[in-house]
Amino acid sequence: MFRLYKSKATFLLTLKSRVIKDDKKIKLKGRNSIFKRGGCMNGAMFNSLARYIDKNYPRVSFSDLCREASLKTNVFAELTWYPDKDFIKVMEFLSEQTETDLSTLWRDFGRETFHYFADIFGDYLHGIKTFPNLITNLNRIHQQIKRDGLGTPPLLEFKEASPDHFEIRYTSDRKLYDFFLGMLEGATKYYKTDTKILGKKERGKLIVTITTKQLEPELV
Ligand code: HEM
Repeated sequence: MFRLYKSKATFLLTLKSRVIKDDKKIKLKGRNSIFKRGGCMNGAMFNSLARYIDKNYPRVSFSDLCREASLKTNVFAELTWYPDKDFIKVMEFLSEQTETDLSTLWRDFGRETFHYFADIFGDYLHGIKTFPNLITNLNRIHQQIKRDGLGTPPLLEFKEASPDHFEIRYTSDRKLYDFFLGMLEGATKYYKTDTKILGKKERGKLIVTITTKQLEPELV
């Protein structure tokens, strides 16, 4: 039977519940029970990586990287879950093939993933018009994403917040520090904001200081 979906997010959520119901291996006791198995990533991360590779390294094949990393598949469904370690392996092979260090890759990848997520999870950005607005709503957005069963995003600690100055502490078992910085940079580009971002690793945390200046609209 066909149903009309109000938005892309509603459609995705409906699709997700079907994927979970259809997968006999996943016993869904509570919304987040799939995450208790630990270390799983949304297929959206893999798809973002495939796009990133196509765009930036046309001579590298994402499918070949998946094969080299001995992954079971090279097709990833959004709202389905794949081991973190598979993702890490593909990144390592990419780093080898492109002779680019991992932290540069993660950062670049984060920059482009922001735009991809803003597109496919766009409903969560509804009403958010500026970069400072995004930052002050980031925990709410990520919590909503987690509640909706779309991923396991980090909880951030805000030490200071004023309209143009933030200090954010990021902690996560995944320790995706460079990805985090890349996502921030992607967001500043998306919101056309001039920022100074300083990241410092300290006892298992990434402390980021951001100073922003909204760019004046250009007169043409
Ligand atoms: C500057 C803004 C953002 C930053 C710095 C950021 C950072 C991150 C980081 C570091 C993770 C990885 C999880 C971990 O470390 O354990 C993550 C996960 C995630 N983020 Fe964000 N994020 C931002 C904005 C957004 C936005 C706008 C969306 C959607 C509209 C989004 C959706 C997600 C989702 C779905 C995941 C889960 C991925 C998974 O579990 O596979 N994020 N984010």
